[in-house]
Amino acid sequence: MYRLNLTAILSAILAAAIFSGCCGSQAAHYDGPVYLNPQASLDERVEDAISRMTLEEKVAMVHAQSKFSSPGVARLGISELWCTDGPHGIRPEVLWDEWEQAGWTNDSVVAYPALTALAATWNRDMSALYGKSIGEEARYREKDVLLGPGVNIYRTPLNGRNFEYMGEDPYLSARMVVPYIQELQKNGVAACVKHFALNNEEAYRHTIDVDLDDRALYEIYLPAFKAAVQEGGAWSIMSSYNLYKGSWVCSDTLLTKKILRDEWGFDGAVISDWGGVHSTDETAHGGLDLEFGTWTDGLTMGATKAYDNYYLAAPYLKKLRSGELPVADLDTKVRNVLRLIIRTAMNTGKPFGALCSEAHYAAARRIGGEGIVLLKNDSALLPVKKDAKRILVVGENAVKMMTVGGGSSSLKVEREISPLEGIRARAAKDGIEVKYVRGYVGDVGGSYNGVTTGQDLSESRSAAELIAEAVREAAGADYVIFVGGLNKSDHQDCEGADRYSLSLPYSQNEVIEALAAANENLIVSLVSGNAVAMPWVERVPSILQTWYLGSEAGEALADVLFGDVNPSGKLPFTFPKRLTDSPAHAEGDSLSHNGKYFYKEGIYVGYRWFDEKDIEPLFAFGHGLSYTTFEYGQARLSSSAMKKGGSLKVTVPVTNTGAVPGAEVVQLYVSDAESYLPRPKKELKGFEKVYLEAGETANVVFTLDESALKFFDADLHEWVSEPGEFTLLLGSASDDIRTCASFTLK
Ligand code: BGC
Repeated sequence: MYRLNLTAILSAILAAAIFSGCCGSQAAHYDGPVYLNPQASLDERVEDAISRMTLEEKVAMVHAQSKFSSPGVARLGISELWCTDGPHGIRPEVLWDEWEQAGWTNDSVVAYPALTALAATWNRDMSALYGKSIGEEARYREKDVLLGPGVNIYRTPLNGRNFEYMGEDPYLSARMVVPYIQELQKNGVAACVKHFALNNEEAYRHTIDVDLDDRALYEIYLPAFKAAVQEGGAWSIMSSYNLYKGSWVCSDTLLTKKILRDEWGFDGAVISDWGGVHSTDETAHGGLDLEFGTWTDGLTMGATKAYDNYYLAAPYLKKLRSGELPVADLDTKVRNVLRLIIRTAMNTGKPFGALCSEAHYAAARRIGGEGIVLLKNDSALLPVKKDAKRILVVGENAVKMMTVGGGSSSLKVEREISPLEGIRARAAKDGIEVKYVRGYVGDVGGSYNGVTTGQDLSESRSAAELIAEAVREAAGADYVIFVGGLNKSDHQDCEGADRYSLSLPYSQNEVIEALAAANENLIVSLVSGNAVAMPWVERVPSILQTWYLGSEAGEALADVLFGDVNPSGKLPFTFPKRLTDSPAHAEGDSLSHNGKYFYKEGIYVGYRWFDEKDIEPLFAFGHGLSYTTFEYGQARLSSSAMKKGGSLKVTVPVTNTGAVPGAEVVQLYVSDAESYLPRPKKELKGFEKVYLEAGETANVVFTLDESALKFFDADLHEWVSEPGEFTLLLGSASDDIRTCASFTLK
């Protein structure tokens, strides 16, 4: 049974009655309490509610009452607040006080593509569609807060949780997170943007003490959070586990008060990551409003009925009563939580939502198809030609369910179409026979937190036997499609641990080399949320990066393989050739870090580093091919100068010069000729995805204002733009600039 919020329903009826005049010809007079009056302002409601609450009720409101809920005030009809993971779908119900499954039969959902896949669409409309769809599912499941999306920057390819984030670039993740939040929250479900901030690796996420220069903090790690707050209007933020400059972020004042509230004007609630709070006094003074998951590891372990012992529970109450801690700080927290409850649980205007609708499956498939990145396609091997007779599919990831596992984003889905199922169904339409062989054995487990896939992936043959079989079968096939990559088990793409290396695990490299030697029509399709090393890259003609695509994974993959969808995804992070090419590992550093840790590369994260050091990546940030080709004309500026505080337009004609319709992501990078602080060679400051019929030309227009030219001067604590020459670089990838234009900032 889903929760029925009687207060909300009554308020809604009342509000409707007042404004429709249905109670009589005169508008009825509302004489209920202000905090329940949907027509009163948010502040009036909050102040009225808080004025009626006892100290005990206020304290109860700032900590959890169960694994995923906090209490309202039952006496006053103030609703409870129900949270749910995660960014890719609505988590199955767990028991009130345990991580075990509640065993409901009506909590299966649609799994949407992982956020890396969403970022790879470089399409704001896909982000809006994602937010709308997942918001409807959250709403139907009666959730008030969705614990996501995540926008931690992709600093290292070893971070086990990169698949839940939006890549290495602050501009791309900022632009992509905003529509997600706006559409999600239209359902009366709050985004809880995580993990604020600097949670860039997993293994020691509870004890790493990150330090970095302020310029890197402001230019690289904060912009997506800032956009989430100021443009997305996020109603909540999750403070991260790690420490920053010696303080736990969940109890700090620097990030969660000074920056979030004072600089950005955030008026929502800061929710701790599960088990992220470590003290009463600091947390009482700090910016955190709501404590969750104390005495748990945030994932699977949890002390029983510990809620009264939370740092913001009985110990807090005691110190408030004795006057050791001020009630004013508590009131600030309660106001923030009340605002969140009124915006969500007590929102009388919210829609009803929907679960597992056809529209949601269609959204998952569309986003997935647009997110797939065609990394390489020699001799136009793809799409699969209609006259093919036989396809051989090889690899565990062609059959393994990927919606179970990976940590708190693990789901219980109504259905998941595997790559093999998707390929088989599509190939059948063209009368193509599909054969499958295993190729390698990876992770045969199939359960997470009590959700089991029911798949039996056990295999007793040796690696050599599996390779021999794959090679034998590959010989007569028109195409060989190898589906491999990582999976959601520990030390791969999984929360709570990091990868050991950049290499593909198990015997995949050997399988790929053997297949490449056996059949020249080899396609490698990688399922992962991270970059992997590709020692075989020269010997494989076609390579696809296909992420974790959720319920419709197989359909979305088949759409691209068979050319029903022309690939248009672009990489949201750089693929390095070797680990030491990537900035976090340049000096041979490995993951993971316990205790104090300084981000030495500063602002040179991702392509900024590769540009600076002149390192050739395996595949560059922004790279992604299509089944058609695009030509760029000369970029034209609306003016050769920009005034301080002004703006200018740059227009670039783009033509689809191939034979099929397709979409191109036109990327705009800014390069500053000279500045008093060192700057990256170029920085992404605009992108537009444009759909073009074969032969069609479109003028793609960007409007740029002074903010696109600024850098953060940490000494002044200010964003600065310096007069002088700037060049706009426009192209198809960060390493494929097609045209440029220069102007002067006066
Ligand atoms: C994760 C969060 C998640 C929370 C609740 C934590 O372990 O870091 O992202 O939302 O658990 O499941």
